[in-house]
Amino acid sequence: MIERPDAPSCARNREPILAVLRTHFADRASVLEIGSGTGQHAVYFAAALPGLIWQTSDQSERLPGIRAWLDDAALPNTPPPVALNVSGSWPTQRYDAVFSANTLHIMSWPEVVRLFACLPGVMTGDARLVIYGAFNHGGRFDSESNAAFDAWLKRNNPRQGLRDAEAVDALAAQAGLTLIEDRSMPSNNRCLVWGR
Ligand SMILES: C[S@@+](CC[C@H](N)C(=O)[O-])C[C@H]1O[C@@H](n2cnc3c(N)ncnc32)[C@H](O)[C@@H]1O
Repeated sequence: MIERPDAPSCARNREPILAVLRTHFADRASVLEIGSGTGQHAVYFAAALPGLIWQTSDQSERLPGIRAWLDDAALPNTPPPVALNVSGSWPTQRYDAVFSANTLHIMSWPEVVRLFACLPGVMTGDARLVIYGAFNHGGRFDSESNAAFDAWLKRNNPRQGLRDAEAVDALAAQAGLTLIEDRSMPSNNRCLVWGR
């Protein structure tokens, strides 16, 4: 049996993120999560939102860890994870919600561009998109800790780094999405929410 991976940040940020999801996903039927990571968010949100089918996805090497969390929770609304690298092929199914946390600063910018270009192919006409993470605004860091985080990311991988919320919103606009909310979250994070 595979040991479940643990990301301690999930326990810290899941409650504030859930508050956003309760607002924007209350009437949704199925969500595609991109970059599910450990799978911890998925089991927490799926348990709290039992009317929503929570479809996890990530790069294939992450799937065993996600499966371990899903199997342990044994929820009725979490189908097995699907392999999704945003640079590769995408699911053919459509979802009325898409969620992603802490992924845009990990993906390279071309991968972020590809993610938004592919979103219309998996979203229903009335779909909502919620993206959680640290962002810059107006080309500036929101805090010293975000600046330090960006420098740390770039030391590890120069293609990573915090994204400008405005640049991401421009990609969303090209995908036919309108920004509904830019909610301030604990520890200098944001939840960006788009709809059609
Ligand atoms: C910092 S982790 C965040 C995981 C989880 N969402 C969370 O908040 O704990 C970034 C995630 O993005 C995924 N990721 C990175 N590049 C990706 C790509 N090109 N396509 C899909 N997922 C990717 C990684 O595999 C990883 O699970």
